[in-house]
Amino acid sequence: MAKFFLTAAIDYANGDPHLGHAYEKLGADAIARYRRLRGDDVWFLIGMDEHGQKVAQAAAERGLEPQALTDEIATRFLAVWARLGITHDQFIRTTDPAHRAGVQELIGRIFERNPGDFYEKAYEGWYCVGCESFKAEAEIEDGRCALHPTRTLEWVEERNWFFRLSRYRDFLLDLHERRPDFLQPDSRRNEILALLRQGLEDISASRARFAWGVPFPRLTSDGEQQTTYVWFDALPNYWTAGRFPGSRAAWPAQLHVVGKDITRFHAVIWPAMLEAAGLPLPDRVWGHGFVYFRGERFSKSAGTRLDLAEAVSRFGPDAFRWFLLREIPWDADGDFSWDRFEARYTADLADGLGNLASRALAMVVKYRGGTVPDPAPSPLDQAGEETVGRYEAAMDALDLRSGAALVSDLVTAANLYVAQTAPWALAKAGDDAELDRVLGALVRALYRLALLASPFLPDRTQLLWEALGQPGRAASADWATIGAPPVAGCAIKKPDGLFPKPTPEPAG
Ligand code: MSP
Repeated sequence: MAKFFLTAAIDYANGDPHLGHAYEKLGADAIARYRRLRGDDVWFLIGMDEHGQKVAQAAAERGLEPQALTDEIATRFLAVWARLGITHDQFIRTTDPAHRAGVQELIGRIFERNPGDFYEKAYEGWYCVGCESFKAEAEIEDGRCALHPTRTLEWVEERNWFFRLSRYRDFLLDLHERRPDFLQPDSRRNEILALLRQGLEDISASRARFAWGVPFPRLTSDGEQQTTYVWFDALPNYWTAGRFPGSRAAWPAQLHVVGKDITRFHAVIWPAMLEAAGLPLPDRVWGHGFVYFRGERFSKSAGTRLDLAEAVSRFGPDAFRWFLLREIPWDADGDFSWDRFEARYTADLADGLGNLASRALAMVVKYRGGTVPDPAPSPLDQAGEETVGRYEAAMDALDLRSGAALVSDLVTAANLYVAQTAPWALAKAGDDAELDRVLGALVRALYRLALLASPFLPDRTQLLWEALGQPGRAASADWATIGAPPVAGCAIKKPDGLFPKPTPEPAG
């Protein structure tokens, strides 16, 4: 059993979860579910990034202690993850003492192994609380951070601990050149290569006069206790996770899933920190694109909001998962639109998979008393097997949208097969052998679809699984059975409204 330790970004605990957070966790969850189906020993880590100025400011605005705010926000994120069917194995919070101790240990390791990597320096520059990072002139437009135009930049002058990131430039260039798979997709890798070729500057690793965080484990030369810079606290969560009781987060991770805005932290700063601490690097980093809403960046600070609860309730959590992962490319940006959502729901799910399942299973009930016949394979099996091969290749390459599209292709092929073979005409003509062949092939196609679609539609595919007379959970099925689905003789039940037709409700 191969270990597959998978992480998504830990979200800032300064506000409610939004569509962007959901998109990332859903993509990572589909990968986790797919790897489990393939028999891997998966550990899926998500959590909250609870320190830093952004969280402290949000708490102050609400007149709360930061810890009280993060407790409340963590509860709200967990409720959304439960509603969306996110199957994380661990939910880390950076305010947990085990994490805080881990951060100090990691920094301590760097001090021990590479004493010159941290040094004190006076610094001044523009700090964006939205990014939780200092900004170079090129990243500032009209006096504001290009990524957070609604926030005001802060001019910071202080003496900090600095991390000698510049020393790791050659190491990082070599890493990205030698291991093209380390950072994917290629568009992100090229951005990082370009950045590294320009040269790297050292970065601040602590903050003075700001206490909401992990105490930096060394005092400055004049005896000042500083606070660990929030990214030096957040990135190590992937490593500290394994220190929690009961955790099986065995470092190194096989995959970090993060958004494009924070790819740089994961592909430059994090590998440098790990190298400095003498720890192994993760196998892979995936920098997904952004979901936009009405063409705008979807974030709290940009003020563009879509009501997540409303979107999830529109057609249920599975349909929401399906829409985002089928519609928005996992390697580039995409747009959420109510029209597209409804169109996809209707075409792919209600008229597609849902209609196929209800017609095919109703025919098995009607013509064969609900017992699946045991005939020889048909051309639809061949199409099914080809789809499985292409699906595995797409999902292994983290091309989630193609994986979902292949599910739809098989649905289309099966619906076409029904139209071409016209089982009702075979029944009328009394052609029992051919009718058995067609019905058996359709049930096998549905079996394959239940497994292939389960990372995207975990709840509805389980209903389909049960309607196919299969025992237990589709999620724990033996993947090898997809080659020759064991459906002959099974007792079919008609699935109740897998994907009901949408009601003509105005959708905003
Ligand atoms: N706390 C940091 C991550 C630390 S990881 C060690 C952070 N938090 S965040 O809440 O701002 O973002 C969490 C994740 O959501 C990031 O990967 C970010 O890219 C992603 N998204 C935020 N808005 C997004 C969209 N509009 N679309 C897709 N993903 C986006 O960054």
